[in-house]
Amino acid sequence: MLRPDPILLNVGCGNDYREGFINIDGRDDLPRVDRVIHVSQESLLTYFKAGTIDFILANDFIEHHFHWEAVRIMKEFFTLLKPGGILEMRLPDFEQICSSTDLPMEKKINLLFGGQDIPQGEADPSSRKRFPEFFCHKYAYTPNTMRQELEAVGFKEIVTRPEGTNFVVTASKRSG
Ligand SMILES: C[S@@+](CC[C@H](N)C(=O)[O-])C[C@H]1O[C@@H](n2cnc3c(N)ncnc32)[C@H](O)[C@@H]1O
Repeated sequence: MLRPDPILLNVGCGNDYREGFINIDGRDDLPRVDRVIHVSQESLLTYFKAGTIDFILANDFIEHHFHWEAVRIMKEFFTLLKPGGILEMRLPDFEQICSSTDLPMEKKINLLFGGQDIPQGEADPSSRKRFPEFFCHKYAYTPNTMRQELEAVGFKEIVTRPEGTNFVVTASKRSG
């Protein structure tokens, strides 16, 4: 019997459009995006059925939300995933950034709070002016605090690894 193709979401895709994924972002001015969804104002469950998604990627995304929004979004991720489905997120490591003695203070501020309305070089998207809230970091996490957040939502097999000033976390929706 033919197995259906896995359904993969790339939430907050920005310019990182991934082939084979449903690429989602709140900005309608990206060169490529499959679904324009304002994830802090709309529920992903309006667009996708619970328990139907195999893999959710959310890189540099969850810190762009207030804590209560992030919790609601991570609960939606959990609900959307099939049993055995995987969530992967990359986000700034608050502990690593704060404790670094190499990073200049200006860089730490940028890494922790996002670029907000401050242009970030020549190739900066004009949408920074149209959607300034999408360029703000509104909360911060460490590998340990994120582990606690994901455990509280129900995720299992939570694994974190450092990636520069960020960390990557993977978690699965396993029963038991
Ligand atoms: C820092 S970028 C990361 C882009 C991409 N994932 C990457 O790793 O290069 C964050 C992206 O999340 C999107 N975003 C932030 N908040 C959002 C929201 N509430 N709803 C939808 N998209 C949002 C922004 O528009 C932006 O494209």
